[in-house]
Amino acid sequence: MRILGIETSCDETAAAVVDGEGHVLSNVVSSQVPLHARFGGVVPELASRNHLLSILPVIRRALGEAGVTLETLTRVAVTRGPGLQGALLVGVQTAKVLAAALGLELVPVHHTEAHITAVFLAGGDLAGASPGFPYVALAVSGGHSSIFCVEAIGRYRRLGTTLDDAAGEAFDKVARLLDLPYPGGVAIQELAVRGDPARFPLPRGLRRKDSLDFSFSGLKTATRSLLEKLGSLDEVTRADLAASFQEAVVDSLVTKTLAAAAAEGVADVVVAGGVAANRRLRERFTEACGEQGLRLHLTAMAYCTDNAAMVAGLGRFLPPLPPAAVDGLEPFASGELGSPLP
Ligand code: KG4
Ligand code: ZN
Repeated sequence: MRILGIETSCDETAAAVVDGEGHVLSNVVSSQVPLHARFGGVVPELASRNHLLSILPVIRRALGEAGVTLETLTRVAVTRGPGLQGALLVGVQTAKVLAAALGLELVPVHHTEAHITAVFLAGGDLAGASPGFPYVALAVSGGHSSIFCVEAIGRYRRLGTTLDDAAGEAFDKVARLLDLPYPGGVAIQELAVRGDPARFPLPRGLRRKDSLDFSFSGLKTATRSLLEKLGSLDEVTRADLAASFQEAVVDSLVTKTLAAAAAEGVADVVVAGGVAANRRLRERFTEACGEQGLRLHLTAMAYCTDNAAMVAGLGRFLPPLPPAAVDGLEPFASGELGSPLP
């Protein structure tokens, strides 16, 4: 089997080729970050237009780097949603045309599902071993902060989610308050290296032990109020603030994920999504899972932020669309994975 993956849900145009064992033959990501940075966030119309301009060159590069031709593909897997509607349309339409013209199987993929199964890419899990089912997965990105119990590929139970901002969104908003560039996660991480995470005790949302949900808006507001109170910031204070904020986010993510693992009685924990690239988060998860005797599977850095290898990788496990359903395939802008627990 040989699968072409296509991802255009937000501000990355991505294509990748993955084989039947999950080996990544190529993984091309064309980021639009420089295009959106001056607006401080993603501008949907600009994103769609740029996907349209980038999609064919990116696919061509992915095929070239993998050393394969279109004719030798078995499947096309494409992110169907959730994401920006206009952005998704570009990837979905491209995949439909390729499938129809070349007679390929077409596999529509849920973006969050692709994130939390990226550890199955060969070499994609730092521990070097795939997680056993059931496992608990934390999906943390610009659009999502949720905890799932993954019972099998295709069987997900959502255990908790954010009641307001996603973790990546909180990073991006606080970065803006600190005059840091978009996207804010990496910028805060770099500033925080020089800071004292204990200097400002910022709130951890929904500390209640019985809740597996997150809330980051209180933290954001507290950071804003603190900034107003402090007035002009020297570099040390700025770094301390970044470190204290990062520690509060990381603390919530680690605490709730481990509580979910304990409640479900699982042995394996997966951490995925753009925010999973955060160094402090990776450190804290490594320590905490070590203490609790849990097997930790950190998504490899190349597959944390949006990419198409995770889409192609999931595409090898899912059934293709029946041919009669291909014409009617359209993106969905929203739609959570898994159902909330009663
Ligand atoms: O998964 P992703 O590429 O796109 C979505 O599906 O949303 O995640 C992007 C998010 C952004 O909010 C970005 O600030 C955050 O991931 N991010 C990070 C880091 N790298 C990316 N947040 C914290 N630390 C990082 N190193
Ligand atoms: Zn994502």
